[in-house]
Order: sequence, then C-alpha cells, then structure tokens
Amino acid sequence: MNQFCSKISNSLNGNIEVPGDKSISQRILILGSIAIGTTKIKGLSSSDDVKNLIKNLKLLGVKIKKSKILTSVSGVGIGGLISTKKKLYMGNSGTATRLMLGILCNQNFEAKITGDKSLNKRNMYELIKPLRQMGAQINCKNNNLPIIIRGYNETMPIFYEQKIPSAQIKSAILFASLNSQGLTTIIEKIATRNHTEILLKKLGAEIKINKFKEKKIIKITGQKELKARSISIGGDLSAAAIVGSAALITPKSQIKIKKVNMNKTRITFFNVLKKMNANIKISNNKKKSSEQIGDITFKSSNLKGIHLGKKIVANMIDEIPIFSILAAFASGNSSFCGGEELKNKESNRIKSLYEGLTLCKIKVIKKLDGLQIIGNGKNNIIGGTKIKTYYDHRIAMAFLVMGLASKKKIIIDNADCIKTSFPNFITLMRNLGANISKRK
Ligand code: S3P
Repeated sequence: MNQFCSKISNSLNGNIEVPGDKSISQRILILGSIAIGTTKIKGLSSSDDVKNLIKNLKLLGVKIKKSKILTSVSGVGIGGLISTKKKLYMGNSGTATRLMLGILCNQNFEAKITGDKSLNKRNMYELIKPLRQMGAQINCKNNNLPIIIRGYNETMPIFYEQKIPSAQIKSAILFASLNSQGLTTIIEKIATRNHTEILLKKLGAEIKINKFKEKKIIKITGQKELKARSISIGGDLSAAAIVGSAALITPKSQIKIKKVNMNKTRITFFNVLKKMNANIKISNNKKKSSEQIGDITFKSSNLKGIHLGKKIVANMIDEIPIFSILAAFASGNSSFCGGEELKNKESNRIKSLYEGLTLCKIKVIKKLDGLQIIGNGKNNIIGGTKIKTYYDHRIAMAFLVMGLASKKKIIIDNADCIKTSFPNFITLMRNLGANISKRK
C-alpha cells in the first residue's frame, strides 16, 4: 500500500486540463461496441475503471484501438457481443458493472462479472430486480458480485419508477431495453445525470423525454440499431471539483481548469460553491458533441457554511467528499441529508468522512443519511493524522486536499485507489505547487 501525505502549501497556480469525463467515457465505449460502424472518441478518460472496461469489451469480441489522442471502437450491433469463458473483471467500477449488466441482458449467453474487494461488497439489488423483470437470469449471493447473468436476444419492456435517484440504474435499464420489443418507461422523481439519454439520442435510439410536474419521464422503444458517431469528451467535472477546491482553501491561489464538461445535471456543486462565497468563474462555455464544455477558474476564498437537501445531494453525489472538506474550512455550520446512496459508493462515504474529519479534530455529527459539519474557518484546521481511505479514490483525494491547508500533515493510508478515476492527480497537484509526497 502506497501511503502519501500532504502538507501546508503556500499557493497553487496554473492552467490545466483534467482527464476526460469517466461517466461519458464508459457509456460511449459500451454504446460504440453495440452500434453499427466505427465510433471515434477523443478525450477518453485515462482511469483504471475505463481501462478495465476496454479489456472486458475486447473479451466480448469488440475491436478497440487506442492511440494517444483517438480511441476507435468497431461496433458489433445490439445483440452482437460474443461469449467468453473468462470472468469479466470490473476492478473498482460500480458504474461499469451496472452498465454492463444492462447490456448483457441483450446477449444470448452467460457471463460472469466480478470486481475488486471493495466492489464485491457493493449491493446490486436495486438493479438486479428490474433486470430480472426484463427477463435476465441473474445468480449471485446476497445481491453482491460475483454475478452470473444470462441474457436473451429479446428483453421484456418494463415500467420503472425510480426509488432511489441513480443514473447507473437508469442507464442500465435503458441499455437493457435496447433489444426489447416495445416501450420501456422510466420515471425519475429526482433527475440524475443525463449523459446516457444524450448519447442514445445522438446515436439514433428511439428515445423521448418529457416532464410531468417535477417528474422526468423517459420512454424508449427497443430494436432500433444504433449508428456510430464520433465524439469529443470534455474533462471530468468531478475531478475538476477536487483540484479546484484545493485553490479555494490555499492562500494566493488561482487555478484555471480548461475544457471541463459542464452538463446542466452535473454543475450543482459549482452552484453550491457560489452560495458558499467561493471565488469561481465559468467562461468559454460552448456546446461540443451535444454536451456543454467550458473553462472554470478557482481563486482563494473565504467560504461560508451551507445546508444541502436531498435533491441537491443527488445531483452532486460524487462531490460530497470534497464538499465536506470545504465545509470544515468554512465559517459557520454546514450539513447534507438524503445521502442514503453514499453508503453504497466505493466506500460507505458517510462513515469514511465522519471518521476522517473527526480524526482531523473537526466537530462532525453523524445523521442517518448525512452529516453536520461545524466549520472551523480558514487557518484553523489541525490535521495531523492518518486517514483510512477504504480504497475509495474520492476520499483519498479529498483528504490529500485537506492536508494542503492544515496545520499538521495529513497521511492517507493508500493512494493506489486514486487511479480508479484520476491516475495523474498527484503529479498534476505537485505541478500546481501542492506539497504532496510519498511516505517511505
Ligand atoms: C455515475 C452515477 C453516479 C455516480 C457515479 C457515476 C454514472 O451514481 O456516483 O460515480 O456514471 O452513472 P448514481 O447511480 O448514484 O447516480
């Protein structure tokens, strides 16, 4: 296990780009694999999650070629994947697992999916249920990986009303519906990230989206072949959120992150930052490959606390770890609630954050589905501890950022997990001026 520590840093400055968006990268690789024709992708995420997914799609008969700039995927048609005797190893990726379960519903063979220790503990029940309704045979113990799934040439359409807000579950059902004869309807009470819908429309799927009062209604008719399209992916907003937050809490800092995906369903965190008095500015915001892409500048700020409700939390679910760190540096109290899903992420994030912040001597109160964080204000964070990351990349990066503005260093027990989403995080932070080093 590679332990790293971060220490107080004078200032962070520079113009950078972060890896391509992981959610879009995973979706386009899968959709490109089952489209007709060749999909050319620019800006694919360099994360381990994406690398594992590529290996799995190759095992299922898809030809994927990667150069430094372009990735090309030769599609085999919706039900055209071929079976493999090998296990599909998903590493740490809950997203790739769920999306692949969706697509495997349409394949007339049996596949075995497994993951690393952390992924194998994550509960898949909320997805297994609708996929079984659609006709997939799914065998597993306690709704955990390893899972054996057997799909068919044709799935059954379903009517699905969201219980918990989850873009992964929505997307997996949409993928499973691609080979069904008839209309599948998904109702979202809280709208989640919409990259799947955008891509499906772009590739020619028969998908319609309407709003009824507060609800989003998605209707999709299956058995329509998808047509390959080229795409350019913007930087991962969740990665940008972590790097940018470091500038907010360190003195005399200014970081510009260029070409970040600014999809409306993802920018909630930036809106929250503005309400926290953060000095941030979005510029150059343009549409590219059907998504908004823009630059964002973060400057040192005096943050104030804020309270976040369920809907906001669902729309910045991956930013809750870094939000909690910023809340500690804010003046006044902050809180979030309605984050039940946080318990089923790469770690139980409510627990990991509670433990880590408490060890850093921040006053935190644990709630059933959230935390209340008593802000210490700038320059008052003690730190001086070792954080258990539970192999969760976002917990690891968030606490490294915290150490950059704490009185005493913060050590993280394992930095290896960071490559799950952001392999060059430490190098990039050091180039900006961050005092991060490996512990010998
Ligand atoms: C993702 C959706 C989110 C997020 C995850 C990626 C996706 O999960 O936490 O990191 O790509 O669909 P939900 O399924 O909770 O929305």
